[in-house]
Amino acid sequence: MPSDIRYADLIVKRSDHLQAKPSLDPLGLKFGALYTDHMLQVSWKEGSGWTAPSIDPVAPMTLHPCAQVLHYGSCCFEGMKAYKDKDQHLRLFRPDMNMDRLSRSAACLTLPEFDKVELLECIKELVRVERDWVPAKEGFSLYIRPTIIGTHPFLGLSPTREAMLFVVLSPVGPYFPGGLNPIKLFVETEVVRAYPGGVGDKKVGGNYAPTMLPQLRSTQRGCSQALYVLQDGHPGGGIVGESGAMNIFFLFQQEGTMELVTPPLNGLILPGVTRDTILTIARDFGNMKVSERQLRFGEIEDAAKTGRLLEVFGTGTACAVQPVTGLLKNDNTEITIPFDSEAAAHWLAKLPGMALAQPGTDEPFSLCGRLTRILLDYQYGKVESPWSVPI
Ligand code: COI
Repeated sequence: MPSDIRYADLIVKRSDHLQAKPSLDPLGLKFGALYTDHMLQVSWKEGSGWTAPSIDPVAPMTLHPCAQVLHYGSCCFEGMKAYKDKDQHLRLFRPDMNMDRLSRSAACLTLPEFDKVELLECIKELVRVERDWVPAKEGFSLYIRPTIIGTHPFLGLSPTREAMLFVVLSPVGPYFPGGLNPIKLFVETEVVRAYPGGVGDKKVGGNYAPTMLPQLRSTQRGCSQALYVLQDGHPGGGIVGESGAMNIFFLFQQEGTMELVTPPLNGLILPGVTRDTILTIARDFGNMKVSERQLRFGEIEDAAKTGRLLEVFGTGTACAVQPVTGLLKNDNTEITIPFDSEAAAHWLAKLPGMALAQPGTDEPFSLCGRLTRILLDYQYGKVESPWSVPI
């Protein structure tokens, strides 16, 4: 029996009952609600290591009611996407970053280590098996959810002795029901998402379960998601973190130039693959300041009051790049960030490599719009890059 995950041992059992493929209507394709026919699974036991990985028809799993994951949340996961390019070839985007992060997340929960290269090969095979489920349309993709859970039936607190790794796939369009239309965020100051010494920079289930209540509060207040702002009594306002499913970026007009700011990777922020990509692209423009620095909410309020807050957007694998036009506070006051086309024409005109206006209009691109365009060109293989990995 192998002791690590090995692609060479992969067993593929195809389903006899394939479902009909979905239509690509963004209104009909709700994010994360539809699953493909097959999944990858492999289990692990202390002492004997990983079993042979297998691709099987998707089916309910059997877990002992005392399995660790059901009581103590020993679960970590990833979000990746497979894209179909114009030649119908399948591609992943920076998958090595997901494998690295999954490994770090697993380690902090004592879930088992695995060979990242071999797991990625198994995932590629799963996507090949499900290639007909990968939508061939920009803005649509096959969402890949690798997950590791602690399955050891034991109610005492102890490091994991049995685990399971599985990967499910879901054809998706835009994350938010309104597509790329700008959203509003609710400024959440009561629930703390991450704290020093915690696991806010890991992708573990336990980081997400406590965000369901703020998510409910946000939708009740007409917002799509919560933006976590950590209160520490500082007169400059709380520390801006991230939102439910996105890292957050702010574009300021500042001292004759622009500054794009996102909170730093200080242990409280998920190191997003899209976050890193957007930072790299923006730095490559070479003519705006790009900062990973602490941001207090007061700075955002001041910039909005004085017209220096040009744009706000979120980034993530699920949502890609999502424009934000409003930040609603608990006292019902709202910071609005209307898109200022004059400012865009003035400040963004000098960015290289793109038409100044959106196709078919004389409306200037926002920075968010330009970054989205460039990101999509990489993801759908329109631009050759080591980031876009053929399957
Ligand atoms: C992703 O962007 O892949 C995520 O995991 C966020 C999730 C809450 C949908």
